[in-house]
Amino acid sequence: MTGTIQKNHASIFGTTLNQETYQHLYQQSIEQPELFWAQQAERFITWFKTWHAVNASDFNKGEIKWFQNAKLNVCYNCVDRHLPVKALQPAIFWEGDNANRRQTITYQMLYERVCRFANVLKSLGISKGDRVCLYLPMIPEAVIAMLACARIGAIHSVVFAGFSPHALAERITDAGCKYVITADEAIRGAKSVPLKKNVDEALLQAKVRKVIVIKNSGASIPMLLPRDVWYHEISRQASLECEPEWMDAEDPLFILYTSGSTGKPKGVVHTSGGYLLYAAMTHRFAFDYQPQDVYWCTADIGWITGHSYGVYGPLANAATTVMYEGVLTAPDPSLVWKIVDRYQISIFYTAPTAIRSLMAFGDSPLSKSKRDSLRILGTVGEPINPEAWRWYHDKVGHGKCWIVDTWWQTETGGVMLAPFPKVGNQKPGAACLPFFGIKPIIVDEQGKEVEKTQKGFLTISQSWPGQVRTIYGNPVRFFKGYFVQYPGKYFTGDGAYQDQEGDYWITGRVDDVINVAGHRLGTAEIESALVLHPAVAEAAVIGIPHAVKGESVYAFVTLVEKQIWQDSLVGELQKEVANMIGKLAVPENIECAPKLPKTRSGKIMRRILRCIVTGELDKIGDVSTLAEPEVLEQLISAHQAKIKS
Ligand code: WT7
Repeated sequence: MTGTIQKNHASIFGTTLNQETYQHLYQQSIEQPELFWAQQAERFITWFKTWHAVNASDFNKGEIKWFQNAKLNVCYNCVDRHLPVKALQPAIFWEGDNANRRQTITYQMLYERVCRFANVLKSLGISKGDRVCLYLPMIPEAVIAMLACARIGAIHSVVFAGFSPHALAERITDAGCKYVITADEAIRGAKSVPLKKNVDEALLQAKVRKVIVIKNSGASIPMLLPRDVWYHEISRQASLECEPEWMDAEDPLFILYTSGSTGKPKGVVHTSGGYLLYAAMTHRFAFDYQPQDVYWCTADIGWITGHSYGVYGPLANAATTVMYEGVLTAPDPSLVWKIVDRYQISIFYTAPTAIRSLMAFGDSPLSKSKRDSLRILGTVGEPINPEAWRWYHDKVGHGKCWIVDTWWQTETGGVMLAPFPKVGNQKPGAACLPFFGIKPIIVDEQGKEVEKTQKGFLTISQSWPGQVRTIYGNPVRFFKGYFVQYPGKYFTGDGAYQDQEGDYWITGRVDDVINVAGHRLGTAEIESALVLHPAVAEAAVIGIPHAVKGESVYAFVTLVEKQIWQDSLVGELQKEVANMIGKLAVPENIECAPKLPKTRSGKIMRRILRCIVTGELDKIGDVSTLAEPEVLEQLISAHQAKIKS
C-alpha cells in the first residue's frame, strides 16, 4: 500500500476547557460536525492514509460509518508513536493483588511486549479479522493481548472473568472465536479464580483451535495438547519487532458483549478509527487530562469502561495509567487510597457502587492516606446518590476535586454526558452537559420532544464517531434495538430530564435491563436461567433498590403443577443462575408467586412486582391492562406472608 504516516498537526493540549471554550466548541460541533470531527481526527489520531468522507451515517438505515477509507493502526496510535519522546515514561503502573507483585511498564517495554505477543499470535495462525476471546485477570498481559490483537488486525472479544463457563462458551460461539487467551488463575482478595478450568469447561460446548495460557498464580493446571500452549514457552523465541497492520477506519477493533432486553447477550461491535478518536478525545476532555497526570480507572477490562478508559483512551493520549489486579475493598479498605498516594494519582475514576462500599467502612480507612495528589474524581455506570457524591467530594477529595459523573453506555464507546471539569455546574447526581457533537433529545412515548423539566426517554439525534456499528452477526437486532422506536434517532434505553438550567439528569433504564453494582444485566437472561430448573414454570426478575449495589436482583417464580415450595429451592435456583451467567447475576431474593402479573398480551408488569417488594402499593398505578386483576391481591398477600415468615 502506498501512504505515509501523517504527523499530528496540533497538540491535543491546545485547548483549555472552560465555560467559554466548551460553548464555542460545542456549538461548532453541532453546527459544522464534519469540519469539527475532521479537525479533531487530525489532532488526536495519527493516520496512515486520510478519509474520503468524515461521516456517512444514516440512522434511518441503522448504518454508522466514520472516516471511510482512512487507514490507521490502533496499537500504533497507543504505543509506537509515543516512543520518540516517551519511551521511558511509565505507561502502566501495575499493582498485584499481593503487594509483592508490582511492575512498572514504560512505553518502550510496552512496545516490546506487545510486539512479542503479536508475533506469537501470528505464529499460531491468527490474522486480520479473526476473533480472539480474552478471558483474563487484571494483569499487564490483558492490556498487552488487547493491543497485540489490534496490532495485527485481529478482533478481540474480552469476556469478564466473573462470567461462568456457560456464559463464556455462549460468547465464544456467538463471535466465532477460534482462539482463547486466558491465565492459569486470577487472584483477587487473596482468593484464586480458576480461569483455565472455566475455559476447559466452556470448551466442552464450544470448539476452538488454540488456548494460550498465561502463567499468573503459578498453580499447576492440566494442559490439553496440542490445543493448549503456555505463553511463556511459546513466546521465548518471538521477535520484539512486529509491523502493524494498517486497518480501515471501519474495520472492527473489538466485540464486547452486553445485556439487552431479550435473552441473548449482544455483541457490541466497535471499529478502529471512530472509536479510538472518541475514546481519546473524551479521555482528554472529560477528565481534563494533562501530560503530568497519573490516571487510574478502576474498571475491569471486561467492561467497556476498562476498554475506553483503562486502555485505549489513556494510551492513545500517552498517559501514565495504574492497573490493579485485586478487589478495591478487600481485604483492606484503605488500600485503594494508599495506591493513590503511592503513585501520586491525580485522576481517579470508579463506580458509585465502589464508593458506597468504601464509604460503608467509615472515614477511618481514609486517615491512612493523604490523597492530596487528587485533582479530578470520576464516576460511571449508574446514578450516584447525593450522600455518596458528598463523601467522595468532601472526604476523599478534601472538597477540592471536580466530580465528573459520566453517563454513557457500552454502545456509545465513550462519555456522552458529564459535568466537564471547569465547565458549568456541579450538582450531586446530575450528568449535566453533552460532550462535543452529542445532541441529546428527550422525547415522550410518541417521540415528541418534551418541555424542559419534563421526564422522558433519552435519544441522540446525530451520529458520533464512538457509536456502536452493529450487533455482531445480527444487524436486524441492531436496527430494531436502537433505531425503530424513534425514527431518525438513536434510543438509549434510559429515562432522563433536563432541569431549569438545562443540565441533564438520568432517571434510569426504561427497558428490561437492570444495573447491579454497575453491572448491566438483562432480566430475561436471568429468567431463562431460572426456568431451567424443573420445579419452575415461569420467572420474573426485577431490580430493587440496594444501599451499596444500587440495585439488587429480586426474582419471582411460579412453580410447575403439583410442585410445592421448599426453601431449599432458593439455593438451587441461585446455583442455576451462577452456572448459566455468573455470580454477578445471582438473585439475592427469590420468592414463590401464585401467578405473575401479566397484560392481556402476556407482558409481565414488572412495575407491579417492584411496588409490592418496596411496599409502595400507592404507586402501582393503572392496573386496567392486567389480564387477571385478581392476581394483584394474591401477590400482595403472598408477599406479606413471606415477610412475616
Ligand atoms: C447503562 C449503560 C458506561 C460504562 C459503564 C456502564 C447506566 C451509566 C451512568 C451515570 C446514571 C448511568 C445507564 C446506561 N449508567 N452511567 N453516570 N448515571 N446511569 O455501561 O454496562 O453499557 O450500561 O448504565 O442506565 O444505559 P453499560
